[in-house]
Amino acid sequence: MERFGLFEGINEVIGITKGEWINTAPLGIIVGERIFVRLYENHTREIIERTGILHVNVLHDPVVFVISAFQDLDESWFESIEPPVIRNSESWVKFKARMADGYATLEFVDGEVIRRNVRAINRGFNALIEALIHGTRYVMSKNPELKERILYYGRIVERCGGKREKEAFDLLLGYTGIRV
Ligand SMILES: Cc1cc2nc3c(=O)[nH]c(=O)nc-3n(C[C@H](O)[C@H](O)[C@H](O)COP(=O)(O)O)c2cc1C
Repeated sequence: MERFGLFEGINEVIGITKGEWINTAPLGIIVGERIFVRLYENHTREIIERTGILHVNVLHDPVVFVISAFQDLDESWFESIEPPVIRNSESWVKFKARMADGYATLEFVDGEVIRRNVRAINRGFNALIEALIHGTRYVMSKNPELKERILYYGRIVERCGGKREKEAFDLLLGYTGIRV
């Protein structure tokens, strides 16, 4: 899996499933002796149960992560529909996916590296991802502790991120209703 950018541990990627529409969602693909993903009750899981297929895109656009977390990307975001590839993705992988007990076990079918993207670690990007995870939970619970954490990570985004991370964080504040 490493040649596609998926390393041991949890890999945050965009999962793409095709039902009546193209469904996109950030997912954590767990790579170890097996490859699997834990799926909550969401559209990704529902479509996998029907089709048995999951595509993933490895990419570093924070805006894509935020939009995918709260809605689906429309076709204008894609540079290819089959296989589904979001613009500027570094690689795509197609898996056969079998659901059992809330986990999908993944089996490699096909994949391609599209472009190589050399980049240093950016704390703003990492903080945006942390804020986003709390954001997807916050919209369900409105727990004020989660809001505090989102704002904490937002300060790191402001300090360390580039324009795209700041734009993504601003979108996150809108989707979560923290910025009204
Ligand atoms: C970085 C990140 C990783 C996520 N990983 C998972 C995951 O592994 N499994 C899952 O079910 N949801 C995960 N989520 C939450 C889903 O992306 C989110 O609930 C999304 O709205 C589901 O969309 P869907 O209904 O279109 O499938 C993650 C969210 C983020 C921000």
